[in-house]
Amino acid sequence: MKIAIIGGGNMGGAIAKGIAAGSLVPASDLTVTAHTQQTLDKIKGYDPAIRTTLDNREAVQGADLVVLAVKPWLLEEVVKEIRGGLDYRKQAVASVIGRSSFEELGKLLDNGSGVMPVMYRIIPNTAISLGESVTFIAEQGAPKERLDELVSIFSELGQTVVVKEPMMGPGTSLASCGIAFALKYLDASIQGGVELGFAPEEARAVVMQTMRGALEMMNLNGTMPQTEIDKVTTPGGMTLRGLAAMEESGFTEAVKAGLFNSK
Ligand SMILES: NC(=O)c1ccc[n+]([C@@H]2O[C@H](COP(=O)([O-])OP(=O)(O)OC[C@H]3O[C@@H](n4cnc5c(N)ncnc54)[C@H](OP(=O)(O)O)[C@@H]3O)[C@@H](O)[C@H]2O)c1
Repeated sequence: MKIAIIGGGNMGGAIAKGIAAGSLVPASDLTVTAHTQQTLDKIKGYDPAIRTTLDNREAVQGADLVVLAVKPWLLEEVVKEIRGGLDYRKQAVASVIGRSSFEELGKLLDNGSGVMPVMYRIIPNTAISLGESVTFIAEQGAPKERLDELVSIFSELGQTVVVKEPMMGPGTSLASCGIAFALKYLDASIQGGVELGFAPEEARAVVMQTMRGALEMMNLNGTMPQTEIDKVTTPGGMTLRGLAAMEESGFTEAVKAGLFNSK
């Protein structure tokens, strides 16, 4: 599959880097564009075989999949630029832009011919740069084998979850914003650790390893968090007192408020 990524910034660049390092798409089948040469030089640093250009129209020629990865306010401008050069019968269009619905994307892509391309919405999180993303994918009009191919490509960059479009918002909240929410817990723990008397670097190391251990227990035991929490708590014990104090401060409700307000 030949892929053109329009906008090789944080997200587009991470996708390019991950795909180039994977086994399913040769780096030479990837073309990445940007606004500045500086960004393209960075992309070349990931793999010199990745093709780069400042010309979006040139980039989409011959691509099987065009991935739109610019900031939301540039979407319309970029789509208008490339629309005339796309063959919707052969070329699919994917958007990684958070809130661009199929309806909005379809309106922008509509060239009056009555033919629309296969469309995808792809929402990875920033851990895609390490191959540890959760990537949500929704499709409109995609044959199963093409969706499967796309899922295989992104599954080399972490876990992929195929959903219907209405679940893209909740998925973004849980996994993309979720990275920040998880880090917020770690940040609070480190702050607390320092207040308890540890040096910041010590607290950082302890909190990171504690989180690793918690995740690995859930992973190896196939358990929900509460099962592992129950193993740590004894009636009247210090963990239970700590958990009760966290809930009195609204911990669970605060996390849910974050999730519900970011979808
Ligand atoms: N960060 C996340 O967790 C995340 C997750 C999912 C989705 N997204 C989505 O990803 C999109 C991009 O976000 P980002 O954080 O990657 O932004 P970013 O780092 O600013 O990247 C945007 C890229 O677009 C390039 N660009 C600007 N104008 C262009 C044009 N006319 N033609 C081609 N390329 C152009 C920029 O080039 P220069 O570098 O040369 O200026 C830049 O490399 C956003 O819409 C966001 O909703 C982000």
